[in-house]
Amino acid sequence: MIAIPVDIPGQASVVVVARGALENLAAILTTHGGSALPRRVLLCFDRNCTVHANQAARVLRAGGVTVTEFGLTATEDAKSASAVEAMWDAALAARLDRGDCFVALGGGLVGDLVGFAAATYLRGVRVVQIPTTLLAMVDAAIGGKTGINRTLPEGGLGKNLVGAFWQPSITIVDANTLRTLGKRELRAGLAECVKHGLIADLALFEDIRRDAEVLANNDESAIDRLLPRAISVKTAIVARDPLERGERAKLNLGHTFGHAIETIPTSTGRLLHGEAVAIGIVAAAAAAKSMQMLSADEEARIANTLENCGLPRMFTGATTANEVIRRMGFDKKNEGGKLRLILPRGLGACEIVENPPDSAVLAGLASIGIR
Ligand SMILES: NC(=O)c1ccc[n+]([C@@H]2O[C@H](COP(=O)([O-])OP(=O)(O)OC[C@H]3O[C@@H](n4cnc5c(N)ncnc54)[C@H](O)[C@@H]3O)[C@@H](O)[C@H]2O)c1
Repeated sequence: MIAIPVDIPGQASVVVVARGALENLAAILTTHGGSALPRRVLLCFDRNCTVHANQAARVLRAGGVTVTEFGLTATEDAKSASAVEAMWDAALAARLDRGDCFVALGGGLVGDLVGFAAATYLRGVRVVQIPTTLLAMVDAAIGGKTGINRTLPEGGLGKNLVGAFWQPSITIVDANTLRTLGKRELRAGLAECVKHGLIADLALFEDIRRDAEVLANNDESAIDRLLPRAISVKTAIVARDPLERGERAKLNLGHTFGHAIETIPTSTGRLLHGEAVAIGIVAAAAAAKSMQMLSADEEARIANTLENCGLPRMFTGATTANEVIRRMGFDKKNEGGKLRLILPRGLGACEIVENPPDSAVLAGLASIGIR
């Protein structure tokens, strides 16, 4: 078992990484959860993870906890205020008080939703994150960003526009839960791992580049080597900048382009979040190259690594540069009406670029097939 601290003053948290952790859930919560086991738990879970939720519920009940189960559908349309209201009402019906706890068991979508419900219920109760996708294990379930989507004024879904920072009391990563995850969803998580390498850890990026094919096929020892390293990039940045006043924005590499295209249908249906991030990273790399922040060779290495991880590098939907730029205008990082992009500066480092030139944005969009 590896315990990675998240040293935020006054809101310290920990990420526990262990295969089989779910079977020891009650013991892990008692040892690492920062306080005694809660009396009552609202166990909010992704319906596609019912088998893992049943295991968690059984172990908690055996530890004397009263568990109320609440199933959720993991779609971006369901990441909504009405889902949060339903959780508040379920918590009220179960008589949860401030000493009790929400548990979020699922991918990033469920984690964001349940985190927001916990942040607002009784003005905030504890939340335990149990991520079941690679993406949530290395990213979404760490650092306390919670929230829901909203419809944009002129149409389209605006991602994560309402939410709160609410640190989990503990994040429990049991990679055995990945055994039921589809290959496509697993690969989507590799996009965030590549991102972590690119922004802060060149050796991590190079190792993913080398192991891309085995990682994309859920090789368990490769995944076990990857998890603590990719998680540590996130925990270190979050500990230094929990409220995203500066450095934490770097974790959004690929996300400004990515969020703008994520909810536009493609020729093969909707993109997963990690797929949109992969395409967004390709666009960010092209924008960086056009600003002489990246060489052509480095740009190619980034795109090839993502491709070898089984991720898309082009956007295949019907849209225009103007429409995507309109959507990018709603990005949360923007200030004073000015666009902010996170762009790689070589491999293993990146910069926040205020008001990038139109030529860089257009070069980024052209590189992913949008004109
Ligand atoms: N809070 C943050 O810091 C942060 C960071 C990155 C992404 N996010 C958010 O996370 C969401 C994406 O998360 P995700 O990639 O984990 O996707 P997801 O939660 O949408 O899950 C992807 C799919 O996998 C299924 N699934 C999840 N775990 C499974 C398992 N173990 N077995 C079988 N099926 C399983 C889900 O039902 C869903 O169909 C987006 O909404 C994104 O905005 C948040």
